[in-house]
Amino acid sequence: MNRVYVCSCFGITEQQVKKHAEDGACTPRQIASACKAGTDCGSCVRRIQALLGRGACPRRELADQGKPMLTDLADAA
Ligand code: FES
Repeated sequence: MNRVYVCSCFGITEQQVKKHAEDGACTPRQIASACKAGTDCGSCVRRIQALLGRGACPRRELADQGKPMLTDLADAA
């Protein structure tokens, strides 16, 4: 199995992020509340965002119009 880690702080793989995205997590913040990815050093948030961007989540547009993701992260932490 080809494991690509997105978040090394919590050992979260691309697969896991995609799974959470399928389950309805459309923003890095929602991914963070689902599996904590992005809540430690924060360096993976961009990668998570890129992964979400590639997915077909209709609600992502709304998130893009919202506040900066860093604000979201601070809220989630
Ligand atoms: S790599 Fe994800 S929080 Fe540090």
